[in-house]
Amino acid sequence: QEDVFKKLVAHCKEYGFVFQSSEIYDGLGAVYDYGQMGVELKNNIKKYWWDSMVLLHENVVGIDSAIFMHPTIWKASGHVDAFNDPLIDNKDSKKRYRADVLIEELLAKYEDKMNKEVEKAAKKFGDSFDEAKFRETNVRVLENQAKWDEIHNRFTKALNDSDLEELRQIIVDYEVVCPISGTRNWTDVRQFNLMFATEMGSTADGALKVYLRPETAQGIFVNFLNVQKTGRMKIPFGIAQIGKAFRNEIVARQFIFRMREFEQMEMQFFVQPGTELEWFAKWKETRLKWHKALGLGDHKYRYHDHEKLAHYANAATDIEFQMPFGFKEVEGIHSRTDFDLSSHQQYSGKKMQYFDPEKGENYIPYVIETSIGVDRMFLSVLAASYCEEEVDGKDGAKESRVVLRIPPALAPVKMAVLPLVKKDGLPELARQIIDDLKFDFNCQYDEKDSIGKRYRRQDAIGTPFCVTIDHQSTEDGTVTIRYRDTMEQDRVKIADLQSIITKKVSM
Ligand code: GAP
Repeated sequence: QEDVFKKLVAHCKEYGFVFQSSEIYDGLGAVYDYGQMGVELKNNIKKYWWDSMVLLHENVVGIDSAIFMHPTIWKASGHVDAFNDPLIDNKDSKKRYRADVLIEELLAKYEDKMNKEVEKAAKKFGDSFDEAKFRETNVRVLENQAKWDEIHNRFTKALNDSDLEELRQIIVDYEVVCPISGTRNWTDVRQFNLMFATEMGSTADGALKVYLRPETAQGIFVNFLNVQKTGRMKIPFGIAQIGKAFRNEIVARQFIFRMREFEQMEMQFFVQPGTELEWFAKWKETRLKWHKALGLGDHKYRYHDHEKLAHYANAATDIEFQMPFGFKEVEGIHSRTDFDLSSHQQYSGKKMQYFDPEKGENYIPYVIETSIGVDRMFLSVLAASYCEEEVDGKDGAKESRVVLRIPPALAPVKMAVLPLVKKDGLPELARQIIDDLKFDFNCQYDEKDSIGKRYRRQDAIGTPFCVTIDHQSTEDGTVTIRYRDTMEQDRVKIADLQSIITKKVSM
């Protein structure tokens, strides 16, 4: 699986999906650029979300709020005081580590040990059953399992309680070894705020310290009444937003899974107090259906309900996706009560209440939030789509191909038009087809190399339809259309291409 992940990362670079930021300067940690294919896929993901939220729900509208906001907003939201990760400084290597990542590594080590024991046993026993050997293996597996449970329980509790003393102790007790220097010489465990700060303007008293937003949600909360009043919105209603968010992640690995600059698609749904758990259940179901509708495989999703809730939430769940490195959170659905609006009312001194014409009373609404990372969704789509397979090549020989089975609605290029030869009017006809269809969907023209090589290039970027122009095309106005997944070909009329492809690329 790890191998597949490495190949996927390399593929992303080779075909213009994702580049390391500032690559010619040796890169910038956990920051990435999207290339010519990546930006198309990303835009399609955002459109798929936006349409399903804003276009399909009469009572959900969108906004686009600024990244910079008044610094008191982050005080009110709790981010200044509580948006922290426990951090460890290593005296020898002068490096910083996130405590949770280190301990996760330790847990992974024990899990690995257990698996190896089981594997070894399976090999050793073969068909025969040796009770003594079995017992011996079993004891080792159980020992490692017990250790795993013990570390896991202590660590989860320490993290939840933000108990730095206990985290220090865990590191000592289990001899968590510095992954770089190999020493155990930790200096300190302390809290580290994940927000990026900068300065705005300059006055006689100095500049204003502002933050790059760590989530888009607060831009929605502070505009709640602006939208409600100007849009004459009635509760229940939602406000959706797509935008960049920034977090100074300490250990950022796993490619675009954990980035310092990323993009979120968030929706806050405002409801009557007392109805929030009903709406929470509804959105939880709606969001999973949305994911599954893409067809990446229903078994690749699961809920992870939170047992321990943040102080402002009364229900929370994650939608996890099976990444090459395990099930990981892609989206969070949270019932945030009236925490944010009440807090903004308190800090700003402005009323954040809604007048309910049906009840004839004022109240601060409760909020259900759905929050999904664009980049994580991007990674999940690519991970599920990446496929290496053997296919029939020339003269019955086998060849291998890499194909991205991206859902057609999200594919960066929908149709490639390929003239069989570079003469006899075939390129001109190909160009004419593209000119007619380029306003409907993204098309690509390719005349270089053999037709087989051109198919492979389109497979590698996930183009669902290749249209080949041959000599017959100039005579009878038909072309062959080749389907990416089955590699089957049909002969169709040029005049029908638009309707055939549009039908297949719309969700
Ligand atoms: N407003 C709620 C909120 O921000 P979150 O669980 O911290 O909740 C929501 O983030 C989603 O944003 C996550 O499920 C994930 O998809 C994405 N996300 C969070 N941190 C990220 C990071 N460092 N890199 C990429 N995506 C991230």
